[in-house]
Amino acid sequence: SPFHAFLKALPKCEHHIHLEGALTPSLLFSLAKRNSISLPTDDPSFASPEALIERYQRFTSLDDFLQYYYIGFSVLLHSSDFEALAWDYFQHASDGGVHHAEVFFDPQAHTSRGVSYTTVLSGFQAACSRAERELGITTELITCYLRHLPVSDALAMFDHAEVQESYRNGSIRGIGMDSSELDFPPELFQELFDKAREQGLRLTTHAGEEGPADYIATALNNLGVERIDHGIHLADDEELMKQVVARGTLLTICPMSNVVLRCVKEVKYVPIRKFLNAGVKFSINSDDPAYFGGYILDNYCAVHDAFDLSIAEWESIARASIEGSWCGDERKQEML
Ligand code: HPA
Ligand code: ZN
Repeated sequence: SPFHAFLKALPKCEHHIHLEGALTPSLLFSLAKRNSISLPTDDPSFASPEALIERYQRFTSLDDFLQYYYIGFSVLLHSSDFEALAWDYFQHASDGGVHHAEVFFDPQAHTSRGVSYTTVLSGFQAACSRAERELGITTELITCYLRHLPVSDALAMFDHAEVQESYRNGSIRGIGMDSSELDFPPELFQELFDKAREQGLRLTTHAGEEGPADYIATALNNLGVERIDHGIHLADDEELMKQVVARGTLLTICPMSNVVLRCVKEVKYVPIRKFLNAGVKFSINSDDPAYFGGYILDNYCAVHDAFDLSIAEWESIARASIEGSWCGDERKQEML
């Protein structure tokens, strides 16, 4: 449709994409073969890429998805695997009109398997350089900490020499937090976020995806994050919504993820209209595109189909995605 072309051409930024979530079943199977990794034999979903794709359409919750997400990590061993993964994502992002991407990865889930942080980072950095060179996409990398693991595990990762070096030399712009939400409220990780802030890192966290609005409040007030990843449960708390508007906090919303993980029944139940009316800033993102059936442009189109937004509304959403980015002001000006 003509609107699809308009949405594609809008200069936009993506802020909520887990690079490991860009592992398509086809890349998963080819890396498993190349690296001689055996996939689970007790789950018929791993019989073929087609069976896996079919299983991905039947996730019942965040945790149900996460078990597949973490099994997928097992095929990623070499720097070149991480490069191929990120490069696959950047090509799709470019096709969708992304000019700047701020991408998450989960260091703890690789080092715990014996894959070094430097292996992971160097592969992702190679893809970032290529994306800038060949696609004109600028990038920032964000290390996400896993909230289902002990706080001590996160702190040890944060203090690891290679990780510290990447923070000090600017390879990594900030930290986030992801994985299972409900049993792990943000304030558990106070010390981690205090240390990151003292070091001048930018801060964000997943909150209010499956968890309540209270988790968004403690993420903002205790951890001091400047963005909230997902944040759809903000719509349940009018008072907090006013605070978010006053602070100018950006939510990084992922509509197709919310439907596939059953946080909402359909895209039309993502509180997009409520946030627009209240003046809550948000960007629209893909989260784990290989698992949730679409990249950023698919998410823009799904929102358009559900809400029939005006051209002016779309321009303001894309502008918020640029203004809420963690790149320099010069780069923002180029995109605006
Ligand atoms: N939520 C929590 N953890 C995650 C997600 C998500 O949407 N994607 C990858 N890890
Ligand atoms: Zn996410």
